[in-house]
Amino acid sequence: MKSTLLVWFSFLLFAFVLSVPSIEASTEPVLDIQGEELKAGTEYIITSAIWGAGGGDVSATNKTCPDDVIQYSWDLLQGLPVTFSPASSEDDVIRVSTDLNIKFSTKKACDRSSVWKIQKSSNSEVQWVVTTGGEEGNPGCDTLTNWFKIENAGVLGYKLGFCPKDICPSAGLCRDVGIYFESNRGRILSLSDKLSPFLVVFKKVGPLSSSI
Ligand SMILES: *[C@@H]1O[C@H](CO)[C@@H](O)[C@H](O)[C@H]1NC(C)=O
Repeated sequence: MKSTLLVWFSFLLFAFVLSVPSIEASTEPVLDIQGEELKAGTEYIITSAIWGAGGGDVSATNKTCPDDVIQYSWDLLQGLPVTFSPASSEDDVIRVSTDLNIKFSTKKACDRSSVWKIQKSSNSEVQWVVTTGGEEGNPGCDTLTNWFKIENAGVLGYKLGFCPKDICPSAGLCRDVGIYFESNRGRILSLSDKLSPFLVVFKKVGPLSSSI
């Protein structure tokens, strides 16, 4: 009896160990710089994983009513907080490789929505730029330009990506978000096969950071 139990227990343990990696790969939470799980609806500043030259927060070309999504090239400028909302809202934890809406937090009511989307670029060097005016929720082919992903980028942090295949299976576009410098807009977040991924980390907006 005792040995049967032991065999059964070892089997369970074995099955558990086998099943863990695949579960973890699809549900791994995204962590902020303090090691806490990112939560839907909580405000974060997206900032460069690399400090110094080229480091800086993500913001918009107009912080009152956000339009294009840019990255400051100077660490001392405060970015514009964003909130995340996953396409499938089974829980409020933001997980790696899942489709998300990203929205700037704004205090003012604006004509244009502050939800991120990609938009075809008139510039031939980048195919798509990240801007606002997207629609929140309603996952499907009609809304495919509004879905972003946070992907692991090794020890350096995370990268933002666009690959809404789960939202719209016929969507062919899959790219990392990079930074492209445009003289009239600055360092604009863009999708291009020529850009290296923009490596980011997430800072929770708390009483401390908002008082700076
Ligand atoms: C920013 O947007 C607001 C609201 O649309 C507008 O009144 C303001 O002029 C804009 N500022 C700049 C610098 O474009």
